[in-house]
Amino acid sequence: MTQWTACSINAAKGSRKLACLTAYDYSTARLVDEAGIPLILVGDSLGMTMLGYDTTLPVTVEEMLHHTRAVTRGVKSALVVADLPFLSYEASVEQAILTAGRFIKEAGAGAVKIEGGAFRAPVVRALVSNGIPVLGHIGLTPQSVRQMGGFKIQGKKAPDAERLIQDARELEAAGVFALVLECMRSDLGAEITRSVRIPTIGIGAGPGCDGQILVIHDMLGIYSEFKPRFVKKYAELGTEMTKAFASFKGEVEAGSFPDSAHSY
Ligand code: KIV
Repeated sequence: MTQWTACSINAAKGSRKLACLTAYDYSTARLVDEAGIPLILVGDSLGMTMLGYDTTLPVTVEEMLHHTRAVTRGVKSALVVADLPFLSYEASVEQAILTAGRFIKEAGAGAVKIEGGAFRAPVVRALVSNGIPVLGHIGLTPQSVRQMGGFKIQGKKAPDAERLIQDARELEAAGVFALVLECMRSDLGAEITRSVRIPTIGIGAGPGCDGQILVIHDMLGIYSEFKPRFVKKYAELGTEMTKAFASFKGEVEAGSFPDSAHSY
């Protein structure tokens, strides 16, 4: 069994494509791990998919720690990366080290993810030099949704695209082991991927990235409030679940469950 680490994810560039998923609980994380997924992100998207918030902004460190602990208990092989939630790392390098350290020390994460471009380089350097691997995240960064004016495709104009390429280079120089590219044109995703020696993991950034990540509730068809074009549904579990709940209701109401096979 391969034990994935930030180092082995980093070394995978050019040799294999990385298929990554989010997970937020023990049972799901176990299934994802058993499928051989090398990187599991405990994304702050859990604020929307698990907790019902409209954005990721209200998610707290305690909520993220709770879910990260559940995921690491279910995982044997994948690298578990924990998202640092909004306002848990922005105030200072000290704040970032103390928050990120909790995910490694108290929740067993193998790395943390932070959102933002070149301006995050000092935080990345501080975390990495204190032994905390960092996954970067540029393009559409949902924690900046208020500043961006919505969940919009990024890097459309040439100067914005140039800035994203520069962000990727500076984050690489600061020490991120890989970089999430969210919601940008495919040609820009491919160009950033060619511009750095670290793996890029795309979500809505086209096929030219070194890997892909999807939010698990989106790809399983469980969460339907938000349907970006880049989501492919690999199953319709939401429909299946509602059917199962309705069958159970029908059988209980009709008195056919539990039958003798399910009774002592
Ligand atoms: O929170 C999350 O799930 C993420 C992914 C979309 C990359 O940041």
